[in-house]
Amino acid sequence: MPFPEGHVRVRAHAPGRVNLIGDHTDYTGGLVLPIAIDRGTTVLLERIGNRVVLESADEEEPAVVDLGVSDPTGVTPPWARFVAGVVQEVRPSEGGVGRVRTDLPIGAGLASSAALEVALALALGFEDSALELALACQRAEQAASGVPCGVMDQLASAAGVAGCALLIDCSTLMVTPVPLPEDLDVVVVHSGRQRSLSGSAYAERKEQCEAAAAIIGPLREAELDDVATIDDPVLRRRARHVVSENARVTAFASALAGDDLAAAGALMVESHLSLRDDFEVSTTALDDLVDHLLRKPGVHGARLTGAGFGGCVVALAGAGALSEGWVVKAVRGASVEVI
Ligand code: GLA
Repeated sequence: MPFPEGHVRVRAHAPGRVNLIGDHTDYTGGLVLPIAIDRGTTVLLERIGNRVVLESADEEEPAVVDLGVSDPTGVTPPWARFVAGVVQEVRPSEGGVGRVRTDLPIGAGLASSAALEVALALALGFEDSALELALACQRAEQAASGVPCGVMDQLASAAGVAGCALLIDCSTLMVTPVPLPEDLDVVVVHSGRQRSLSGSAYAERKEQCEAAAAIIGPLREAELDDVATIDDPVLRRRARHVVSENARVTAFASALAGDDLAAAGALMVESHLSLRDDFEVSTTALDDLVDHLLRKPGVHGARLTGAGFGGCVVALAGAGALSEGWVVKAVRGASVEVI
């Protein structure tokens, strides 16, 4: 339904996400298994004028973006680039004045920027499917940050299903809900280090995956035997992570479905080691936190979540077993209402 004309006020909410397994696979057409979480970003907007003016409790300066914006990277303050990226994608006929509130830690690997993009796109009147919403917001993120990110964060935020993890095939963009066992806590623990992907080696990792694919073909279809034929040791390690991680996502989804939490936890630990040793995106703080959590009774598995280089760890634990971090619930995807 299109918004009615006039000074309509809307409230849009988009969840953050935590990825249970399958990192640095989405931009190679691989498999991921995130959940949309019960922390997220809300945009309250009155539709008026020919620019978007947003204040945020977490930012000193407001974002002021003309509807005709054409270069998000040149916009200041930096957070306004994400607003500009979304405006450029949605091209609303009317601007708005409003505010942003979030209970997601910024730059912690929980998709805070995706939640802002998805909530704002809905507040500005985006009307297509959850998949199109995610793709538009992925383009907005890339234009705003210059980081060639995949679609996982935006798609998890847009297409979340309550009580379920989302098995996403990033080749076909098919989303299959995988119910989470009831007696299980998904716990997020912050390593204390904020990270910025623009300054990180994310783009370099993507290029290395492309270089490996140029040798052995699409990594999604490759086997470990193919990977072993890559001469360059760095490219071989990067490809080994992606190929083995895709297999772990499939095995993890089966383990969850079969309530085999020991197997699921072991796959998370393997995933962390692969991200640490083959993909080299972990940090000492993340490694120490994973080790610390794995020593706690009732913890099935733990790993870094998201891009790495800092940010959060996700653990699977028996209900109530962990007293640190936050237990997150799997929630439905983003929504908007006229208020
Ligand atoms: C970031 C990106 C995602 C994905 C993860 C790593 O969150 O935005 O597309 O690549 O890193 O899995």
